[in-house]
Amino acid sequence: YGDYNRKIDYVFKVVLIGDSAVGKTQLLARFSRNEFSMDSKATIGVEFQTKTLIIDNKTIKAQIWDTAGQERYRAVTSAYYRGAVGAILVYDMTKRQSFDHMVRWLEELRGHADQNIVIMLIGNKCDLGSLRAVPMEDAEEFAQRENLFFMETSALESTNVETCFLTILTEIY
Ligand code: GTP
Repeated sequence: YGDYNRKIDYVFKVVLIGDSAVGKTQLLARFSRNEFSMDSKATIGVEFQTKTLIIDNKTIKAQIWDTAGQERYRAVTSAYYRGAVGAILVYDMTKRQSFDHMVRWLEELRGHADQNIVIMLIGNKCDLGSLRAVPMEDAEEFAQRENLFFMETSALESTNVETCFLTILTEIY
């Protein structure tokens, strides 16, 4: 609705991080274009998508960055985190290892990003509930200890995807 003519009040850079194949790219595709692909390819380097939203009558342009979870495809780390005001740490709730690695991702994030960055922990693929390998309580406890927001999402079924991005953007704002 005439969105294109609105002036942008804020541009917020948010980065997605986490192991390969946890669903970072598909969370972003769901949020920015309402799309999902089952045969998503591994990300090589860095990509980003933007989406303009109105929060509190302000026009906010969210610039969401997505990088490879695989070490060999990762681009220069410091450039990726530069200027980020939000970070979404993603694990796959059916893969315990991807959750255990959150400690390392958080360490990298805290080593490179601004100290006031808003961080959200996401357990993705909650549509695969019967394969759950990470109890909700483990994630809640970790999030509480590290002072992170926490939510479970499904990029496939659209569960909590919009809520996740809106929560982090509202918190940044
Ligand atoms: P890298 O680019 O290697 O870091 O991986 P990524 O974290 O971006 O993962 P990607 O989004 O490419 O998804 C990996 C696989 O998981 C793909 O086959 C997706 O279709 C699938 N996937 C992503 N999100 C979900 C989800 O919510 N539910 C289910 N069932 N599958 C998902």
